[in-house]
Amino acid sequence: MAAGDDPPLVRAVGLTLAFGDEVIQRALSFDVRRGEVLAIVGASGCGKSTLLRHLIGLQTPAAGQVLYGEHDLHSCDDEVLATLRRRFGVMFQSGALWSSMTLGENVMLPLRLFTPLNPDQRRQRARWKLALVGLDDAFDLEPSELSGGMRKRAAIARALALDPELLYLDEPSSGLDPFSAARLDRLILNLRRHLGTTVVMVSHSIDSVFAVADRLLFLDDLEKTMTALDAPQTLAAHGPARVREFLHRGAPA
Ligand SMILES: Nc1ncnc2c1ncn2[C@@H]1O[C@H](COP(=O)(O)OP(=O)(O)O)[C@@H](O)[C@H]1O
Ligand SMILES: [Mg+2]
Repeated sequence: MAAGDDPPLVRAVGLTLAFGDEVIQRALSFDVRRGEVLAIVGASGCGKSTLLRHLIGLQTPAAGQVLYGEHDLHSCDDEVLATLRRRFGVMFQSGALWSSMTLGENVMLPLRLFTPLNPDQRRQRARWKLALVGLDDAFDLEPSELSGGMRKRAAIARALALDPELLYLDEPSSGLDPFSAARLDRLILNLRRHLGTTVVMVSHSIDSVFAVADRLLFLDDLEKTMTALDAPQTLAAHGPARVREFLHRGAPA
């Protein structure tokens, strides 16, 4: 699906991630290719969620750039920033939905805020997005009435509300039973196949990474930089020792 000659969707150039004086990761340079599933992997606390926050513009890098086409996410004007933000959907690690709203209302909210669609059109679009994630019948349910896996899928439906070309997912399968986690993996692959959505996914699930990721970006917590970027299968066989060790600890048999 990923056409090799296409310009990348996102380009991280020499990123340093820091909180005050504390550097979390440095010298991160990589592309997100159109149509790929890119997994960001590494030990707990290595900076995966922090990297995601930089890629979506919630946190400003201590050094380096995040480029969408020719636009630097952190130095473009507000109008360009608003346009860029419309191009990606985000599911945060908590996967939080607004608990006082039904699923339908959760998915319709971004449509009300950011599109000229009328209420009927919003309802129709939200139903379609929920159907995409297998929640056709859950439009009028509240988050508390759902299982963990259903909540994650609903959060993905909300992230898809504005038809983003790029989806950022932070640990989509954490806390799920193996069946629900596998279902989520299939959903991610289907989004890519049927909508052409590019996916950047933080994951601690090695099974999931092997199932869905075209490439794996490894953030090393000791070296505080990326030490590998390649297909998971390639890295499991020929990657740096610490990456192989990480992948084999939880790799599928
Ligand atoms: N708001 C914050 N202020 C200071 N340090 C933070 C903050 N958020 C995260 N950190 C630190 O940054 C590091 C990376 O965190 P995080 O990106 O959440 O890791 P991961 O998602 O890989 O588990 C951790 O050491 C964490 O303690
Ligand atoms: Mg995290």
